[in-house]
Amino acid sequence: DAGDHESYMHKEMLEQPVTAQAVLRGRLDERFGTAHLGGLDMDARDLRAVRRVKILGCGSAYYVGQMGAALIEELARIPADAEAASEFRYRDPVIEPDTLYVAVSQSGETIDTLLAVQEVRRKGGRCVGLVNVVGSAIARECDGGIYLHAGPEVAVASTKALTNMFLGFALLALQLGRVRDLSIADGKRLVAGLEKLPGQIEEILAGEDDLVAVAKSLAEARSLFFIGRVRGFPVAREGAQKFKEISYRHAEAYQTSELKHGPLALIDPEVPTVALVPRDELTERNIGALHEIDARQGPLVVITHAEVDLGEIGARRIDVPRNEPELDPILLTIPLQLLAYHAAQHLGHDIDKPRNLAKSVTVE
Ligand code: BG6
Repeated sequence: DAGDHESYMHKEMLEQPVTAQAVLRGRLDERFGTAHLGGLDMDARDLRAVRRVKILGCGSAYYVGQMGAALIEELARIPADAEAASEFRYRDPVIEPDTLYVAVSQSGETIDTLLAVQEVRRKGGRCVGLVNVVGSAIARECDGGIYLHAGPEVAVASTKALTNMFLGFALLALQLGRVRDLSIADGKRLVAGLEKLPGQIEEILAGEDDLVAVAKSLAEARSLFFIGRVRGFPVAREGAQKFKEISYRHAEAYQTSELKHGPLALIDPEVPTVALVPRDELTERNIGALHEIDARQGPLVVITHAEVDLGEIGARRIDVPRNEPELDPILLTIPLQLLAYHAAQHLGHDIDKPRNLAKSVTVE
């Protein structure tokens, strides 16, 4: 049971500093700045032969797949993208022999993801799994994979498994990068960043109490936006997903850059925006968009780094610790879990079992 915790989701969120260590354990190579993933069952030659990566998952696993695709493109310079597994099989996909397919699933039992894996394998493609539950259907169906070692996850809204999915992608991206052009210096920089992450996740979780008031104010809104750019966009999608799953509020994710091409029409004092503004090459442009929202009295919550100066913008800011920019997405995700959680808590919802949803959807 959830023990002293008010819910499984709360317990599972707070476990993240420990479970994050479990997925990294024994897989990081400080000396050569790389990762070792024996379960993939691919040697350096197999890894080098990969020309494209296609990630398949549903719900939160799909959004973290988008974060993973960005990591793979950045570190390994291989074209990578994520697709909803629930759609993939229905468009008679072209399966390429030099594409690495990656199925991502906490339960390992999601039928849409399982059927996507079967489609890939039936057509002769190689599919590896990022799966939490050992021996599950997807794990058995894949050619190899990376177990997530997050331990049992009970709450429908995924937290610790999702974090480990991100870390699993970081390990994969590192290994794919280091058999290509990623330098040993960059490899070591990322290994050091990964080793620092569990402690930084703990730091964010320790600030939980400070987020309760802002979560309550978001819970009062009927509709909200979550915005981010490039690395931050899948984070926004995951943040909106969590928020709607457990608070039943309409939450929509948008690319910050697309705001002026449509949704800005909806911004007013009743519609809050949660914006992801890490310190990176897009900070100034992101701040430009915040000005547009602020000018229309749209309430703003900004997840950012302490170094970012928001100037005159009227916003509630939440600072997260800095790591290597490629690894920022997971640190930006943790406050969004806490916001969704406390909004749902404030509204009195059954957080672990949201209406109409199942932890794992095993029928089509
Ligand atoms: C959904 C759950 O139906 O399945 C989501 O409600 C989850 O929370 C998704 O992210 C994928 O599940 P799994 O087990 O394949 O990661």
